[in-house]
Amino acid sequence: MPRRTVESRCTTRASDAERIAEAAGAEIRSDTIEDGEYRIVLFKDREELWDSASRRRGMPLSFQRIDRRVGAGNLSHKQPLGRAIGATAETIVDATAGLGHDACLLACMGWKVTAIERDPFIATMLSIAHHDAVRCAELWSVLRDGLTIRSGSAEAILESLDPRPDVVFLDPMFCAKRRGSALPKKPAQVLQALAEVGEDEPLLTAARRAADRVVVKRPTGGPPIVGDPDLVFKGRLVRYDVYLAAGSH
Ligand SMILES: C[S@@+](CC[C@H](N)C(=O)[O-])C[C@H]1O[C@@H](n2cnc3c(N)ncnc32)[C@H](O)[C@@H]1O
Repeated sequence: MPRRTVESRCTTRASDAERIAEAAGAEIRSDTIEDGEYRIVLFKDREELWDSASRRRGMPLSFQRIDRRVGAGNLSHKQPLGRAIGATAETIVDATAGLGHDACLLACMGWKVTAIERDPFIATMLSIAHHDAVRCAELWSVLRDGLTIRSGSAEAILESLDPRPDVVFLDPMFCAKRRGSALPKKPAQVLQALAEVGEDEPLLTAARRAADRVVVKRPTGGPPIVGDPDLVFKGRLVRYDVYLAAGSH
């Protein structure tokens, strides 16, 4: 299990570092970063994730660099992701939120998104990125009410949702065999190192109890998590398998 640490490199952010370390289940450190360690580093105007290979810059904990092009770009509802979510949906639960790339895209596409992440260190990075959006007026106008972060197990949280979401979106953990990811290289590596691999089937069962439409992101060419999906939307790197409740076809 990689070591998880937090450091403030700004004299006024020591108490932020303590609060973040507690939420993330991490230690406060300011020494050299060891191999296999991941450190959330707080600067005056930004937060980054550093590892032992980081020199002047770490991985930004921010949604500001996500490609949010409209038109025929990432945010187009005509792309496979938008088509998989469907035209009538208003609310989505991203039950495997990771660093929130997909959750942010979905919120920017106009849906109200609740993002669930069970690993406390990853969930904390996700919350930091959400708060960072305050620094970008255009992003914050969307994410202030469009994205809610919840830390915990999706199976437990999905059971207690009221009202029910229109769609549950799942992007289960990469397995060793998974090739390719729609995420940029560094975030994909970080998630692979930090997140535990769980069972996909119980998660899909919980998702199907919670919503009438479940969208599962899969690598193109990979098998479905289970059975035959009702609808399939193919992209270049990934595919979206859609499972519908009986009667909602
Ligand atoms: C492949 S990553 C998701 C990447 C994400 N779509 C993104 O855009 O950053 C899968 C994430 O789901 C989380 N996860 C897996 N099973 C979960 C569960 N049962 N409840 C909550 N989170 C879960 C893992 O900790 C991991 O961070």
